[in-house]
Amino acid sequence: MNAKNMNRMLLGVNIDHVGTLRQARGTSYPDPLKAALDAEEAGADSITLHLREDRRHIIDQDVYNMKLTLQTAMNLEIALTDEMIAIAADIKPQHVCFVPEKREELTTEGGLDVVRNIDKITEASHYLSSKNIEISLFIDPDLSQIKAALMCGVSAIELHTGHYAESIDAKTQKKTLFTLQKALNFALQEQLIVNAGHGLHYNNVEPVASLFGLNTLNIGHAIIARAIFVGLKQAVVEMKALMQSAQLRDITH
Ligand code: PXP
Repeated sequence: MNAKNMNRMLLGVNIDHVGTLRQARGTSYPDPLKAALDAEEAGADSITLHLREDRRHIIDQDVYNMKLTLQTAMNLEIALTDEMIAIAADIKPQHVCFVPEKREELTTEGGLDVVRNIDKITEASHYLSSKNIEISLFIDPDLSQIKAALMCGVSAIELHTGHYAESIDAKTQKKTLFTLQKALNFALQEQLIVNAGHGLHYNNVEPVASLFGLNTLNIGHAIIARAIFVGLKQAVVEMKALMQSAQLRDITH
């Protein structure tokens, strides 16, 4: 195995906002499934979608259709509710990521509070793991949350990159990147699979992509927004190219 293969970070394309555009008019287009297939053709390693309680973008039928058709893997984001756990158990995606969800938020605002919900998360994770679904928890890059995730017995976490992405200057970006790095190193030491995402864009993805050991970056809004101007396949290709060049730079220096 060469150095490049050792750190091949994967791109999970989040297609929620194709659904947002559709639901805004109550039409049948644009189709998130077609978007997912185009993203896969352009090099996406997995497809991420969030079935929210209010069905504001992805609807149940999208998830069922995608499970039948995707060529890569589905990462289904859900809240920790009985309704969503039952849907996930029925669909059996390859991955389920538990995320916090507030009805009024524009997007997922913070990480899951695993520390305060260990019992509930453990029970739900065991149940879905028994159906051969890999469970991850979307958490802030905080060591106490990672320790709690370990107590729940999950095999993966997704680190919330929101604070990093919202950095207002280079100093804050460096600090938040260091926080991500510290959390990543601790989680890797504990044998967790570590993914990351939220707010990553063409202009801020490279430092995160150069962190050694991250498994998948889940990126949505920036790719779907860029697709308006260059097409979805090109938007995916460009994001993947940035990730790959960042990884190569990190390895060779
Ligand atoms: N990962 C998780 C767990 C998310 O909830 C989201 C947003 O839905 C993303 C990644 C993608 O974030 P963005 O759309 O900002 O790229």
